[in-house]
Amino acid sequence: MSVPEKVLTNHDLAQMVETSDEWIRERTGIRERHIADEKDTAASLGAQAAIDALRVAKLHPEDVDLIITATSSPEHLFPATACVIQDSIGAVRAGAFDLSAACTGFIFAIEMAAQAIRGGSIKNAVVIGAETLSRIVDWTDRNTCILFGDGAGAFVLQASSEPGGVQSSIMRSDGSGGDALYVPAGGSAMPASLQTVQEGMHFVKMNGREVYRFATRVMAAGAREAVEKAGMDIEDIDLIIPHQANKRIIEAAARSLKMPMEKIVVNVDKYGNTSTASIPIATVEAIEQDRLQPGDNVVLVGFGGGLTWGALTAVWSGPLTEEPRRLHLARYRRIAWVRTMLRRIWRRIDAFLFGRGKSP
Ligand code: UT7
Repeated sequence: MSVPEKVLTNHDLAQMVETSDEWIRERTGIRERHIADEKDTAASLGAQAAIDALRVAKLHPEDVDLIITATSSPEHLFPATACVIQDSIGAVRAGAFDLSAACTGFIFAIEMAAQAIRGGSIKNAVVIGAETLSRIVDWTDRNTCILFGDGAGAFVLQASSEPGGVQSSIMRSDGSGGDALYVPAGGSAMPASLQTVQEGMHFVKMNGREVYRFATRVMAAGAREAVEKAGMDIEDIDLIIPHQANKRIIEAAARSLKMPMEKIVVNVDKYGNTSTASIPIATVEAIEQDRLQPGDNVVLVGFGGGLTWGALTAVWSGPLTEEPRRLHLARYRRIAWVRTMLRRIWRRIDAFLFGRGKSP
């Protein structure tokens, strides 16, 4: 995982909008969140998380066949943030694309990568959730700005002859609720213009109560369905790692599933809602706290804009306990930068020598 250094507390927010630490903690469970500075981007945070995941899995970036980046705050409409990460970590053999399913994106991306591995077309995938939501949040809107934070997390998925990994999954959407959580402008429906910027249409808009009602309904139902699909009972589950949006939503799901809170990972207090990054960040912290062991049955469950929701049941085959591989991101980045520059220069030479006045 990778989060920016800068921390924004509820007390800091109370200086910016009409709110209070008490209100935010009571209604959401959030105490603070990390916020990107000028040099952080979704890709830079995602690249750091990807390299750390490869280090634990003892893989080289050149071993990676596929990179999927789930993100709600991509660097551009295109190219994909996944391609920026692929270039910066030197994963020269990997196909890379973004997956857009708001906060549920990480669950959908894991399912896509697991299926590609099971189908036999790839061996090693890196799945990343990466966000700089602070760039698309309206810092004058107290309904949304108190909720979100920046960060990234990544998983490595590998083909293995040992049984384990993803056992079942569900992926669901209800586009009729798209207007409950969305960014109106900046896409092709409402291209960016002076007017869209003046009206703040490029910021996140949310109907909080509606999303809350939807979330409390689908979190427990989704988890239950994924567990049943895996042929298990809720009692067989060792740990649930839910999307971290609001502590009350997680507690409501726990009550409905009759799961004790000790079996549910909650770290929304430290990071706020980091959208696609919240599940991998919570997983890393669960591993660091020895709450997740090889062989454990784990449920990942999320919901978000779209509306979308999804859940999967997995037998955890990591974490790997041996000494992680030494990989120096800075070195890979330098090599990748030189390679990128050389390729760009070569494209210009190629166009100059062979491309003038001709179309293929
Ligand atoms: O990844 C998915 C992303 N989105 C979510 O998960 C959001 C889900 N929704 C929620 O988490 C909650 O609905 C919120 C935390 C956004 C809001 O909590 P709530 O308990 O549903 O509050 P509310 O919207 O019903 O508002 C209650 C009151 C309102 O005042 P009135 O109308 O009762 O006078 C709001 O204006 O609280 C007011 N309020 C605030 N007060 C202080 C709303 N935001 C704030 C604030 N500070 N930041």
